[in-house]
Amino acid sequence: MTVLAIIGAQWGDEGKGKIVDELSMHADFVVRYQGGSNAGHRVVHEQGEFSFRLVPSGILFPNTKCIIGNGVVVDPKGLLAEMEELQNRGIDMSRLYISERAHVVMPYHFLLDRFEEEARGADKIGTTQRGISPAYVDKHARIGIRMADLLDVDTFRAKLATILQQKNRMITQIYGQPPLSLEEIHGEYFGYGQRLRSHITDTQAMLHEALFERKTILLEGAQGALLDIDFGTYPYVTSSSTMAANASSGAGLPPHSIDRVVGVYKAYITRVGSGPMPTELFDVSGKIMRDRGHEYGTNTGRERRCGWFDAVAGRFVAQLNGMDAAVITKLDVLDTLPTIKICTSYQLKGKMVHSLPATQSDLAACEPVYEELEGWQCDTTGVCTYEELPGAAKMYLKRLEELLETPLAMVSVSPQRGRTIQIQDVLATPEYDARYPRNAKR
Ligand code: GDP
Ligand code: IMO
Ligand code: MG
Repeated sequence: MTVLAIIGAQWGDEGKGKIVDELSMHADFVVRYQGGSNAGHRVVHEQGEFSFRLVPSGILFPNTKCIIGNGVVVDPKGLLAEMEELQNRGIDMSRLYISERAHVVMPYHFLLDRFEEEARGADKIGTTQRGISPAYVDKHARIGIRMADLLDVDTFRAKLATILQQKNRMITQIYGQPPLSLEEIHGEYFGYGQRLRSHITDTQAMLHEALFERKTILLEGAQGALLDIDFGTYPYVTSSSTMAANASSGAGLPPHSIDRVVGVYKAYITRVGSGPMPTELFDVSGKIMRDRGHEYGTNTGRERRCGWFDAVAGRFVAQLNGMDAAVITKLDVLDTLPTIKICTSYQLKGKMVHSLPATQSDLAACEPVYEELEGWQCDTTGVCTYEELPGAAKMYLKRLEELLETPLAMVSVSPQRGRTIQIQDVLATPEYDARYPRNAKR
């Protein structure tokens, strides 16, 4: 039995989907605990490519149960489309469970996400426009609709009638747009509730039972720690807590049940949307990363900004999350580069900085200080063991491990399932803990 939280350790798109899929073979449960359909987790194997937005990336293994936890905001229309697509590809969706406490992303959330972005003009966040921020705002303002509400025709109608009055005032008076119809939304969303009824359940009770039975549970993070609402590059962040600390409450598990926190990092760094990014590249190396790494949004198709590995941000994230192990993905993308840089500190107003500044203006003013390492300039996509990696690649990985102060557990060298080098088995409890006592270096 192991409960593993797998989090994105940069600005999202680190390859969490691939890593969760790799580990899911041994998992009884895979749980999404925050975010919504702003996520795009791509998994590639012999039967094709899959892009998950709300469905946990463990669904491809027939014996793994998948849960959309209470901390997620669910767009039921999008979810039904995703489920139908998977069903048509032969995936059994009866193994998908949705928390009755998860909040619903409603049509006005999509509209407000768009209107609020337009109103910000040049200061726009660059959201995915999936209604995420307005849905979390309503959750915290205690005017959200939850999955369980969709199942009771009268409760749903009464709640929606009150909320929609307020939303229509915003839509018409602030944004000058036509109001939404109570009848239409009620009919449509009650219909989604009916179609999802058999999946909506008390998921935390399932997980408590699973804990009792000593099952293996993976908690699949969405987005990344640098997009966290508290510790990310505020205000250019998402609206949920992407930290491992939220994995327990977003799934409905006690905090002490999490045995280990694993952070997924790309061998370089990318970001979609606005906000400061100290190591961003505008030269040929950045173009190589984008082209070789196919750095275009899984979900929105937007071009991702690319840059050198930022070990200052990386260590900040490792410390905050009490990271027990790190996974490095997309090492192969750097295969052709003659030299590779790592940002080891920032220069800010004449001073050396070793942690992430709190304000976006300070972060934007940070000049990265680089260490340069030799590239390996050969193909790593077929490498199966750490020993077989070229010497320069091992040096690079060793340096990342030192700078992150976190042991590496896996290195991914291709999008394909199975093309992942195992260094430590993150699911093997006793052996792992003997070798790497928790927080040994901190
Ligand atoms: P996620 O949101 O963290 O799950 O990441 P995405 O799926 O949005 O983006 C990661 C992309 O990189 C996907 O297209 C993956 O198929 C791909 N990928 C994952 N690992 C590797 C790797 O080791 N090498 C290469 N070349 N691509 C990878
Ligand atoms: P995965 O799970 C990368 C970014 C958006 C925007 C900011 C806020 O695939 O790693 P939001 O729609 O959440 O209000 O947008 O967060 N963003 C992501 N970037 N990967 C993601 O998810 C993201 N989800 C949101 O681009 O800058
Ligand atoms: Mg993604």
